Amino acid sequence: MLVAPSILSADFGKLNEDIKAICDGGCDLIHVDVMDGHYVPNMTIGPVVVNSVAKIATKPLDIHLMVEDNNFFIDLFSHLKPKYISFHIESENHPHRIIQKLRALGIKPAIVLNPHTRPEEIEYLLADLDMVLLMSVNPGFGGQKFIQSVVDKTKKLKTLINKYNPSCLIQIDGGVNDKNIHELKDAGVDVVVAGSYVYGANNIKEAISSLQI
Ligand code: DX5
Ligand code: ZN
Repeated sequence: MLVAPSILSADFGKLNEDIKAICDGGCDLIHVDVMDGHYVPNMTIGPVVVNSVAKIATKPLDIHLMVEDNNFFIDLFSHLKPKYISFHIESENHPHRIIQKLRALGIKPAIVLNPHTRPEEIEYLLADLDMVLLMSVNPGFGGQKFIQSVVDKTKKLKTLINKYNPSCLIQIDGGVNDKNIHELKDAGVDVVVAGSYVYGANNIKEAISSLQI
């Protein structure tokens, strides 16, 4: 299981230190939540802060866009060469075009599904994706309760992935901890995002290790 701590739960007064803590703690990716205050009822960080994050980071960036205008934000972040950029299927009229754009920029394309969105919605995009992110909370905030139905949804998505693109990864975001990590692994999850669990722990390294099962 790969682990992508979300810096949304970091202390932004000492962001430098908190990014070093997850990198030194052995994380696999750094999950960066970008919100525009329109697509979701919260705002986080823009290019100024994400540029600084990229300078400090010693692990690849995994940028999760929760925005109305995906094109605009991809243009802001592409020069940072993140490993992944994920965008919501619900916010994009032309998802295939966005996937092609990311691919041309050398960024691995990923699509995010909100808790209510059926995996079949992206059936004909799977062949072109490197990762699908299933939200296990409603996007916008850290520290929310895990929505259990995502486990069944993961299994359905896994069946489609096996059919269309077995190398496509499944990522889960929201309410992940050392209690639900085992059922997520069993359901076929490859990557977990964890914000409050990692940054709320006394020992960040141990918290990350407890998810790398
Ligand atoms: C929510 C974000 C998540 C969030 C996860 O919109 O996409 O990445 O930071 O936080 P936890 O792990 O606390 O649920
Ligand atoms: Zn996220």
